[in-house]
Amino acid sequence: MKVLIVGGGGREHALAWKLCQDDPYLDLIAAPGNPGIEAIGRCEAVSATDVDGLCALAQREKVELVIVGPEAPLELGLVDRLRALGIPAFGPTKAAAEIETSKRFAKELMIAAGVPTSMARTFTDAAAAKAEVRRLGAPVVVKASGIAAGKGVIVAATIAEAEAAVDSMLVENVFGAAGAEVLVEEFMTGEELSIFAITDGTHVLPMIAAQDHKRIGEGDTGLNTGGMGAYCPVSIAPPSLIDETVQRVFLPTLRALREAGRPFTGLLYAGLMLTPQGMKVVEFNCRFGDPETEAILPLLQSSLLEPMLAVARGDSLAGHPPHRWHAGASVTTVLAAHGYPGAVRSGDEIAISARGDDVIVFHAGTKSDAEGALRTAGGRVLAVTAVAPTMAEAREKSASAAANVTFEGKQFRRDIGWRELQRGA
Ligand code: GLY
Repeated sequence: MKVLIVGGGGREHALAWKLCQDDPYLDLIAAPGNPGIEAIGRCEAVSATDVDGLCALAQREKVELVIVGPEAPLELGLVDRLRALGIPAFGPTKAAAEIETSKRFAKELMIAAGVPTSMARTFTDAAAAKAEVRRLGAPVVVKASGIAAGKGVIVAATIAEAEAAVDSMLVENVFGAAGAEVLVEEFMTGEELSIFAITDGTHVLPMIAAQDHKRIGEGDTGLNTGGMGAYCPVSIAPPSLIDETVQRVFLPTLRALREAGRPFTGLLYAGLMLTPQGMKVVEFNCRFGDPETEAILPLLQSSLLEPMLAVARGDSLAGHPPHRWHAGASVTTVLAAHGYPGAVRSGDEIAISARGDDVIVFHAGTKSDAEGALRTAGGRVLAVTAVAPTMAEAREKSASAAANVTFEGKQFRRDIGWRELQRGA
C-alpha cells in the first residue's frame, strides 16, 4: 500500500512510525518529511502548502491514501482537491476545517449546538472590542479568529494587556487577515486536556486523553510555545470522561457541522478545560496535535492505518471496534532550539546517542547537511518519547534520553507529566 504523509514535523514522524508498525510493507512517502521519516520512508521536497505540487505528487506516485498532518494545507483546501482527483485523503475539507481556522465560526457553532464552552463575542472594531474587555474585566482572553502560528491567543492578566492585544490585532494588523476579527472571551480556570477522535463525520473513535505542556519553563512558567512535551494517559480523564466528551462535545459538533453542510471527516481534536463548572471546549483543531501525537501513538495497540483508510475512502465507522491500548504510560519531551520560542538559531549539529527499544526519538525541526550530519532546522527539534509501566519511569526515561541528545543551545523540560506525578498516579 502506498501512502503519502503531508508535513514534516514530529507529529508526521509519529504518524509515519505508527503506520509502518501497522503495515511493515507500507510504501511510505512524506512531503516534505524530515530525516527521521527518511529512515523509514522516502521524502519528496514538496512543501506542505504547495497544493498543486502535492496533488501532482499524489497522482504521479498513484498513492492510495494521503494523510494531511498540519492545518495549513487543510485551510488551503488540499483535501477538496485530492478528492476531486479521486484520491482518498484523510482530513477535513476546507469548509469543515473552519472548526479550527475560524474561531468565530467554531464558537458560534458550539453555542448554537449547546456544546459547553466559554462565552465570547466577535469584533472587527477596536473600540467595541475594548468596551467588551472592560465589561468582562481581567483576566480576559483575546483571540485572533484565524490561524496565527500559535500566537493568536492572549490570556490577558490586566485590562491594559487585553486592550494592547486588541490594538495589535485590529489596529496594527500584526497577524494580517487572521487577526481581522477578534474574539473577546471569558477567562476559564482548570486543567487542560487534549482529546482526539477519528471520525467519518457521524461516528467517532475517541483516543485516550493527553496533556500538553505549553510553557517553555519547568513548572509551567515563561513564554508560551507550540508545546514542550506531553504525556498520557491522564488519570483525570477516565473512560467516563471520554464518553462524556463524545456525547456532549464530539457528536453534537459533528451533527452541527453536517447540518451546516460541512461534514467533517478526519481527526477532530477537542482542547478541553475541566473547569469548576464542568468540562468546556477551549478550542477545536482539525488535525492531530503536536506533541500529543508523539505521546499517544506509541500506546496505540490497534491499527491506526485501518480506520484512517476507511474514513479516507468514505466508509462508515459504524460498528467499528474501539481503539485498543497498551498498558503503561508514555511521556514525550520536546527538545527545542536556541532562542525558541523567539527567533530560533538553525544549523547546530545534533548527536543522538544509543537508546533502548522503549525510547523513540521523533524528528521535528531537523535536516541533514551535505556531509550527512544532522542539524537543527526549526524551533522544536526533536520529540523524545519513552514508554514504561508507570508515569514516573516513563518521565525519567524520557528526560534522561533527552539529556543524552546534544546540540548547542538545547532547551528542554525535565518535568513533563508533573501534574500527574503530583496526583500520585
Ligand atoms: N498541542 C497543541 C496543538 O497541536 O495545537
